[in-house]
Amino acid sequence: MLVNLEVGSVLLALLVVATWIQRRRRAEKSASSLAPPIHLDSKQGTTRITPLEHFNVDATEPHPYRPWSSGKFAMTMGIQKVPSEEWLTLDRRYVPEQALRRELLARHHDGVMQILPGSESACEEVLSMVVSYLTQRYPHLFYHPSGQLDHIYNKLTEQTFKIVAPYDVPPLEIAAQLAMEDINILYPGFGEDPEQHYLAASYSMAPAGWDLRERIGWPLWKIHSPVPMWQEKLQRSVEKYFHKMKADDLIARHNYFVQTDDILFQQVPFAERLPEPPKIEDIRIRHERQTLRRLPRTGAILFLVRTYIMPLTDLRDDPDSLRAFLSSVRAMPPNMAKYKGRPVWGETVERWCAEILEEPIS
Ligand code: HEM
Repeated sequence: MLVNLEVGSVLLALLVVATWIQRRRRAEKSASSLAPPIHLDSKQGTTRITPLEHFNVDATEPHPYRPWSSGKFAMTMGIQKVPSEEWLTLDRRYVPEQALRRELLARHHDGVMQILPGSESACEEVLSMVVSYLTQRYPHLFYHPSGQLDHIYNKLTEQTFKIVAPYDVPPLEIAAQLAMEDINILYPGFGEDPEQHYLAASYSMAPAGWDLRERIGWPLWKIHSPVPMWQEKLQRSVEKYFHKMKADDLIARHNYFVQTDDILFQQVPFAERLPEPPKIEDIRIRHERQTLRRLPRTGAILFLVRTYIMPLTDLRDDPDSLRAFLSSVRAMPPNMAKYKGRPVWGETVERWCAEILEEPIS
């Protein structure tokens, strides 16, 4: 009898412990769908950013990236690690692009800026990282005025911002008026599926043919729904990569589009046909340098996009790059060629490149 009673209480105790563990697991699972796991960055705060004290913005040309290669087309993630010192870019386009940013914020606010409730602390975290980077990298251009640590002065635009709560301007709006990059914050758990990353906040001055007001709150796969082969070739690997990404990884990927004007703020899809074939002088290569990192405190994914627009004719004196460019244009499979608008600009590009390179037209 006594033994039975003891066995009974042990079983009861085991049952209580098992229920407690089960409840705790469930609670942890539902919490993790709201706040993703935080991967602490061991180097955060201790990584030294070398100051570029004599950096001259006006004398610095946009980086001449050549984001294409000859050979077969391959739909891959195409990511590479980059040193954290190379996070944000600065060049002579800064002042005119900041003027465009201010104009869009004033006249088209909701088209360029969206912040979903729940993403505010990630926006604050982005601001503090941008301030920390710029004040270390360009201390003569971005600094705390007369030692006031709660403000930042942007010497290039002569603006001062309060950078602690209560804010005068939302933190993401401040970050967008300091950096040249467009800013996207992605969170798991902002929609039905805790496994998917959703666009939770964004400042986008240079969308490549899409509208932020439509795509805010969308999961990554849906954002990419117009992109051929995304679902079959990239979706799984990108989501997997996002889940295991550590806060001290900084990675970059590059892409390009071709367009027939100089427009940076391209919110509607690129034209599928034009009344006349474009002239070669109108052809522009639109290149995006995209960086990805995980925010160490909130755990959100930060996706920055710097967009460069350059005339194709700038490649006239660089035959190796031009040859590689033409090869990559020719290598696009039909669905990708259609997505990138090749039926609109392809013939003009093909003729001019072949003429410069003294090649037969394909
Ligand atoms: C490693 C991660 C990613 C990969 C491999 C990737 C890949 C791609 C590819 C292949 C395209 C087609 C254009 C091109 O690049 O050639 C594209 C377009 C696009 N991506 Fe991503 N992407 C990634 C992350 C993101 C993130 C985090 C966002 C969040 C905002 C995003 C937003 C977009 C948008 C808005 C487009 C244009 C879609 C359209 O044409 O409507 N991408 N991406």
